[in-house]
Amino acid sequence: MFEALWDDRVRTAMKQFSAGAFLTSAHDGVVNTMTISWGTLGILWGKPIWQVVVRPQRYTMPLIDGSGEFTISIPEKDMAQALAWCGSRSGRDGDKLADCGLVAQPGRVTKTPVIAGGGVHFECRVVHRQQFDATVMSPTLNQTIYPGNDHHIQFFGEIVAWYGD
Ligand SMILES: Cc1cc2nc3c(=O)[nH]c(=O)nc-3n(C[C@H](O)[C@H](O)[C@H](O)COP(=O)(O)O)c2cc1C
Repeated sequence: MFEALWDDRVRTAMKQFSAGAFLTSAHDGVVNTMTISWGTLGILWGKPIWQVVVRPQRYTMPLIDGSGEFTISIPEKDMAQALAWCGSRSGRDGDKLADCGLVAQPGRVTKTPVIAGGGVHFECRVVHRQQFDATVMSPTLNQTIYPGNDHHIQFFGEIVAWYGD
């Protein structure tokens, strides 16, 4: 399964990941998406895994904890405006999908939708989570990235489906 993951479309999408992707979560009737640009795609425990990092104050965090799922949609076309909006507003304060005219397309395997619109999608089930530990982190990294002591939660999601629009 892991070899099959590295097709040309996924390779191209990964080049675009650092420009921003949608991390979508859904729980208890709420659907939310936030922008991410940090994360890793690789293999752990013999499984294809996306590891994403979410600060504890994000509205996204309890939604992923509640459902045990997330999806990632990496746009292939220019969605810079929507990525900027979803990366600077919280779903706590309103429906960002509606604000941006984003369409939540039902997931194929999970209950969490993907963001429609010319991209590559990954559906993930959380198999592990943990918070970065300041006591074993490089002091420079700790001071630079976490002056507010809000260390990211790492969510490790097993990829149970991936496809393009
Ligand atoms: C390009 C970009 C990348 C971002 N990457 C992350 C990330 O990897 N992890 C994170 O916690 N926040 C990241 N953010 C910030 C969140 O997207 C932002 O705080 C968002 O408003 C959280 O939404 P929520 O409260 O609805 O979950 C990023 C923002 C931008 C613009």
